[in-house]
Amino acid sequence: MTNRFLKLLSFVFILSAVGCGKNNDTNSANETVERRVETLLRKMTLEEKLGQMNQITSYANIEDLSNLIKKGEVGSILNEIDPVRINALQRVAIEESRLGIPILIARDVIHGFKTIFPIPLGQAASFNPDIVETGARIAAIEASSVGIRWTFAPMIDIGRDPRWGRIAEGFGEDTYLTSVMGVASIKGYQGDSLNNPTSIAACAKHFAGYGAAEGGRDYNSTNIPERLLRNVFLPPFEAAVNAGAATFMTSFNDNDGIPSTGNVFLLKDVLRKEWKFDGFVVSDWASVVEMITHGYAADEAEAALKAINAGVDMEMVSGSFVKEAPQLIKDNKLKESVIDDAVRDILRIKFKLGLFENPYAKEGSNTVCYDESHLQAAKQAAIESVILLKNTNQTLPVKSDIKSIAVVGPMANAPYEQLGTWVFDGDKAYTQTPLKAIDNLSKCHNIQLIYEQGLTHSRDNNMATIAKAANAAAKADVIFAFIGEESILSGEAHCLADLNLQGGQSALIEALYKTGKPVVTVVMAGRPLTIEKEISQSAAVLYSFHPGTMGGPAIADLLFGVAVPSAKTPMTFPKATGQVPMYYSHNNTGRPATRNEVLLNNIEVEAGQTSLGCTSFYLDAGFDPLYPFGYGLSYTTFSYSNIKLSKDKFKSDETIKVEFELENTGNYQGTEVVQLYVQDKSGSVTRPVKELKRFMRVTLQPTEKKTLSFELPISELAFWNIDMKKVVEPGDFNLWVATDSQSGEAVPFTVIQ
Ligand code: BGC
Repeated sequence: MTNRFLKLLSFVFILSAVGCGKNNDTNSANETVERRVETLLRKMTLEEKLGQMNQITSYANIEDLSNLIKKGEVGSILNEIDPVRINALQRVAIEESRLGIPILIARDVIHGFKTIFPIPLGQAASFNPDIVETGARIAAIEASSVGIRWTFAPMIDIGRDPRWGRIAEGFGEDTYLTSVMGVASIKGYQGDSLNNPTSIAACAKHFAGYGAAEGGRDYNSTNIPERLLRNVFLPPFEAAVNAGAATFMTSFNDNDGIPSTGNVFLLKDVLRKEWKFDGFVVSDWASVVEMITHGYAADEAEAALKAINAGVDMEMVSGSFVKEAPQLIKDNKLKESVIDDAVRDILRIKFKLGLFENPYAKEGSNTVCYDESHLQAAKQAAIESVILLKNTNQTLPVKSDIKSIAVVGPMANAPYEQLGTWVFDGDKAYTQTPLKAIDNLSKCHNIQLIYEQGLTHSRDNNMATIAKAANAAAKADVIFAFIGEESILSGEAHCLADLNLQGGQSALIEALYKTGKPVVTVVMAGRPLTIEKEISQSAAVLYSFHPGTMGGPAIADLLFGVAVPSAKTPMTFPKATGQVPMYYSHNNTGRPATRNEVLLNNIEVEAGQTSLGCTSFYLDAGFDPLYPFGYGLSYTTFSYSNIKLSKDKFKSDETIKVEFELENTGNYQGTEVVQLYVQDKSGSVTRPVKELKRFMRVTLQPTEKKTLSFELPISELAFWNIDMKKVVEPGDFNLWVATDSQSGEAVPFTVIQ
C-alpha cells in the first residue's frame, strides 16, 4: 500500500516537474480564482465579510447553527464529523444564505482520522518523510470522506523540553528534521491539488515559538530573541509556505511580551512580506480574546483590532471580530480594506479547495475508513517509528529456542492508551494491542504465553499486583514488559514537572529484573522519559512512543525479528528532568564539559572551589544525555568508512559532495539512517556545535557495502548573522557523516569568498 501511494505521489511529482504546460495552467487557474474572489467580494456586505472571518465550534442544536449560517455569519465550523449533519449545514449555506458561500469544515486530524498512526514525534523517529506523507494522505482520504476539508496540522513547533506535553504532536527538537517532516505532511494532506475532493487544507501551527514555553508549561511565555527565532524556530514555517500550506495558525504564547495573535512582525513582516504567504491565518482557540488576559488588550474591541490589524484572517470561536469590527470601522479605527484582504485570503482557499463546485460529502456506509491498506500503512509507520535503545547480548529478536514468554505491564493490552494524544475519532475497538499480536505470533512458534498485567494503568501503584506479576513472569524464559504513559499524560495542557515513570512502573521493572529472567522493556509514551534506572535493569529496550492503531503487530514483528528496528531518537533523551531543555544543537560555552562523570559523591569534604576544573556540567547528572539525538540500534551493525569531500575549499555558490562507504557488518538485512551534520567553527555570532543538514535511509543485506553520497549546497550553511542578515560567512567548518549526533570523525572544509 505504502508503495502504491508513493508511486502515485511520485508520478504526480514527475508530472508537475516535467509538464511544460503546467505553469501556464497554474497561472490561469490562479487568475480565475482571483477573479472569482473579487467578483464575490464586491457583492458582500460588511456583515457577510465578517461572517467569513468567523469560525465557530459545532453545537448540538442544528437549528441555531443553521440560522447563523443562513445570515452569512459563519465561515467555518470545527468539530463536525457527521456527513449527514455536515451536508445539512452546507445545504443551508449554499441554498439559503444570500451569497451561497460554502462552509469550511475543520477538525484536528493530527496523526490519523480513524486509522491512527504513531504520534508525530514517533513518526519523526522514522526519519522517513514518506511515512509521514503517506500517513497524512490516508488521514486526508478518511477525513474528507465525511466532509472534513481542513485539518489543524502539522504542528511544526520546535520542542526541546519534554516536560511540554505537546512535544508529542511535533517532530522533535531539530529544525531541519521538522522542516522535512512538515513539508511531507503538508504534501500528504493537500495531495496533488487542493481541488481534489480527497485533499484537505493543511495548517502550519503554531506560529510561532510555542514550543519554547518557559519551564515546559503549556501556554507559557517565551523569550526567543529574533536571531534564534529566525535560525531555529521559523525555518519549518518558511518551508511550509514554500510547500504550499493553505493556512497558518497563530500560537498562544507571548514572545518578548507580544502575543502571536497580535504580532505584526510575525504575521505581516515575516509571513506576508518576506515569505509571500497567500493562504489565510486562523487564530488559535480564543487566542484573540485571550490577549486581554495576557494584558495586551484592554477589552474585546482592542483585542479584535490588534488581531485583525496584525493579520489574523479568521477568529477561532471567540466571536470578537463579528461583534466589534463594525463599530471599529465606524470609529475609523479599522479600515474596511483590511477586512477585505482577510476575506480575500479565506475565499481564495475555499475556491482552491473546490468547495463551491463540490461542497457535499458522501452519505451512507463509509468503506474508506479503516481500509485494510490504511491499517497496513499504519503498521509500517509504527515499525519504522520504534527505536531500539538497548540490546544486550542480542536479546532481541527472541531466539527460536524460547519456550515461554511473559507479557506484563499496563501498556501491553491498552487499546486506548497506545493511540496517544489528539485522537478524537480513532476508535479503540480497532486497536491491535501487543498482547494480541504476541499471542498470535507465539502460537505460530509454539511458545507458551503468560500474561499478568501487573498494573492496570500507568499511574497505578498496586504493589500486590506487581508481586503477582513478577511471580508469574519468573516462570517464563523471557519477559516483555510494556510500560509508559497513558495517552492523557501528554498533549495540549498536559505537561509534567517530573519525567520519571508514573505510578508503580519503576517498581514493576525492578521486581521483574529480580526474577533473573531477561527483561525486554517496551516504552509507549508521548515524550522521552527519564528511564536510566529501568534501562539498566532491562536486557533490551524498545521505545515506541504511542504507536497508534497497529502498534501491537508492529512491535510484535520487531520482537520476533519479522522486522528489524531502524528508528532514531528525534529528541535528546535526558537522564534527569533537571537537564532539560537539552538538545544536541546547542552553542558551545567558553568552558565546555570535559568529563561526563557524576561527581557529586566523589567531592571531598571542604574541597577547593576550583578542584573540579570549572566546566559546564551537572555535579549530579554529568553532561551527556541518556541518548543523544539521532541515536538508535538495529539487529545488525553498520560501519562507515572512506568519508571524502569532493574538495576542501568551496565558494558560496558551490555544492559540497561528500562520498562515503556504508557496510552492513552484521547478520540481518537492516536499514541505517545516515546523518550529515555541519559545524560552522566561528562566526559573527556563536554557532551551534552541530546542525543536521541531510539524512538518508539506506537498506543493506548482510555484508553488503555501498558507496553513497550527499550533496549540500553551501548556500544551506547560511544563518542570521550579527547584522540580522541571512548569509554564509566564509571560514572553517567541520562535517560529520555518522550514525547519530554524537558519533563520527570531523572532516574539515573551508568556505572562501
Ligand atoms: C490548540 C490547537 C487546535 C485547536 C482546535 C487549540 O486549543 O492549541 O492546536 O488546533 O485548539 O482544536
